Amino acid sequence: MSVRIAPSLLAADLGQLREQVQGALAGGAEWLHVDVMDGRFVPTLSFGAPLIRALRKITDAPLDVHLMVVEPERYLAEYADLGVQVFTFHPEATVHVQRHLAAVRERGMLAGLALNPSSPLALVEEVVDDLDLLLIMSVNPGYGGQKYLGSATAKIARARALLDRHRSAAALEVDGGITAETIVSAWRAGADTFVAGTSVFGAPDVAGAVRDLVRRCVERA
Ligand code: DX5
Ligand code: ZN
Repeated sequence: MSVRIAPSLLAADLGQLREQVQGALAGGAEWLHVDVMDGRFVPTLSFGAPLIRALRKITDAPLDVHLMVVEPERYLAEYADLGVQVFTFHPEATVHVQRHLAAVRERGMLAGLALNPSSPLALVEEVVDDLDLLLIMSVNPGYGGQKYLGSATAKIARARALLDRHRSAAALEVDGGITAETIVSAWRAGADTFVAGTSVFGAPDVAGAVRDLVRRCVERA
């Protein structure tokens, strides 16, 4: 199975956005993960459309936008127009989830759902066929630099089984506390897409850090 790394810009030095992005892509990162936080669904505020616009000027790499906001559907049209490829939101943050997933696809984006550590997989079970991506949070969202919650590994395995049961080709992404040490268990459990903030942008060699994450998985294949 492939190993797709999506470095999280939450941990990047935004004063050197171009260099940080180029470093991540040089290391083999396929997507760039953009954490949008509203201070309501999660305690903190981060960034939104202005950063996405800046990124679009720097790179054509797919932007993997993770909305930690209430009523994420309010941003759907705007982000589609900005050229976002992956639009992932939390079912805990809205109602009419199926309608929003369909609208994301209609606007030409990949549709993703993210689950907090305490949220059961049953929350997505009825909409598996509407999903292009399932994101299992391995920390409680809101901050970078937290420790990987061990309970995520078994949940990833159950998510893999759920997707397989539905013959779904959706990506299975994990987000939070992914390091050279933790990535292997998530990969073995069946994840194929890995968000990594601190372990990539906190490293002196950004490209090397991305390469190392991939290598850890491939070596244990
Ligand atoms: C957490 C965010 C993550 C975060 C990951 O709220 O959704 O994407 O940036 O950061 P690290 O890799 O440092 O745990
Ligand atoms: Zn995220």
